Amino acid sequence: MSLASAEAETETVAAERSHLHSSPARAERLLARFHQVRNFTDALCAGLEPEDCVVQSMPDVSPTKWHLAHTTWFFETFILKKFVPGYRSEIPEYAYLFNSYYNAAGDMHRRDLRGLISRPTVREAQRYRASIDSHIDTLLSNADENLLDEIEPILVLGRHHEQQHQELLITDIKHVFAQNPLYPVFRAGRARHSVRAEERTATPTRRGPYRFVDFEGATVAIGHEGRGFAYDNEGPRHQALIPAFSLASRPVTNGEYIAFIEGNGYRRPEFWLSLGWITVNEQRWQAPLYWIKHNGAWWHFTLSGFRPVDESEPVTHVSYFEADAYANWAGARLPTEFEWERAALDCPIDGNFVEDELFHPAPTAAASAVSAEKTAQNEDLHQMFGDIWEWTRSAYSPYPSYRAAPGALGEYNGKFMCNQYVLRGGSCATSRSHIRRTYRNFFQPEKRWQFTGIRLARDPA
Ligand SMILES: [Fe+2]
Repeated sequence: MSLASAEAETETVAAERSHLHSSPARAERLLARFHQVRNFTDALCAGLEPEDCVVQSMPDVSPTKWHLAHTTWFFETFILKKFVPGYRSEIPEYAYLFNSYYNAAGDMHRRDLRGLISRPTVREAQRYRASIDSHIDTLLSNADENLLDEIEPILVLGRHHEQQHQELLITDIKHVFAQNPLYPVFRAGRARHSVRAEERTATPTRRGPYRFVDFEGATVAIGHEGRGFAYDNEGPRHQALIPAFSLASRPVTNGEYIAFIEGNGYRRPEFWLSLGWITVNEQRWQAPLYWIKHNGAWWHFTLSGFRPVDESEPVTHVSYFEADAYANWAGARLPTEFEWERAALDCPIDGNFVEDELFHPAPTAAASAVSAEKTAQNEDLHQMFGDIWEWTRSAYSPYPSYRAAPGALGEYNGKFMCNQYVLRGGSCATSRSHIRRTYRNFFQPEKRWQFTGIRLARDPA
């Protein structure tokens, strides 16, 4: 299937339709979106062999097989077990193997040992997916309006959960393949199906210096509102006082980051947070993850193979520590998540997403040229969405009056609001139908295996 066919009908339109149609049409619509997302996961795995799907290359990485089964467990646990009278799991032991972190749903296997689960096999995990999908088909096809009212919010959450795991599946298999001296290719070449992506890659010329776009101080409404889907951590919507700031017109490129490396950035403690400096020395970091100096030039491993670093692409696979150190070296800082959200208000949600099948950030110059054509409201900011998740300096913490919901699904976001930083905008591994201006991603400051990058900000002169 074409990955682009997984384009979403917006949740708002879908919600409106749900009140206009009878149950069969509503169930049909819900099932169509459900299967689109499920099929997209299968499409991502199309080029993988069973041997690829069982490797866990570090504790943060989950094997592809585990992602396939865990996303399925989510639908079985929170929908089938709840709404199908007398439902019995075909293999009850899967509940232990494929629960991730939901304590209220029962005990779970150790995250760092997922690579040791040689059984079920990949084929059995795929059979598990098909079986649960079939049960979901039957349940929804026979549900009345009241039952659909109860199921729909969890089904939609399950879809978005699966889209999150699609991104993890991509970044995890990249880490797995990067450990292999043969450097396996996940997808050969660059975009083949997307006109938009071809436009972006057609002119990989270097872009001139970024500039700073000024924003006046204001009190701004932050967070999600409306009927469309959002995670609970995007609310409650509230007023935030945002002093005047300036935001860089585009992300930091590889070429600019090389200047930091060659300016001894990794050896000068004055740019680094204390924890970052400890990490740099313990881990012996000298460059972003996947970068290697080869015959005097920087190369890096990508999902299309090992290749020279393109200086016009946004730098990626950098930790919060590196992003912060780079910003200090450049005489700037990282934006807060509130500054980022305010700046994104006028930006169209368009960019290089997973549907473009690049599986890599697009060169800044070409992406800007395409995006500027479409950006009538804001021609000054480029690549705010897609390509790379942008580190912010905001700690991942609850918005005012936030309370996690009771029960297992209340464990989805709230319990992680400690020792992590917020990232915004989505990446080349994110689905276009998954991202929002209010979307808050979060990772610990030393993590580098996601497509994470840098956009600078600064205070008024
Ligand atoms: Fe999960």
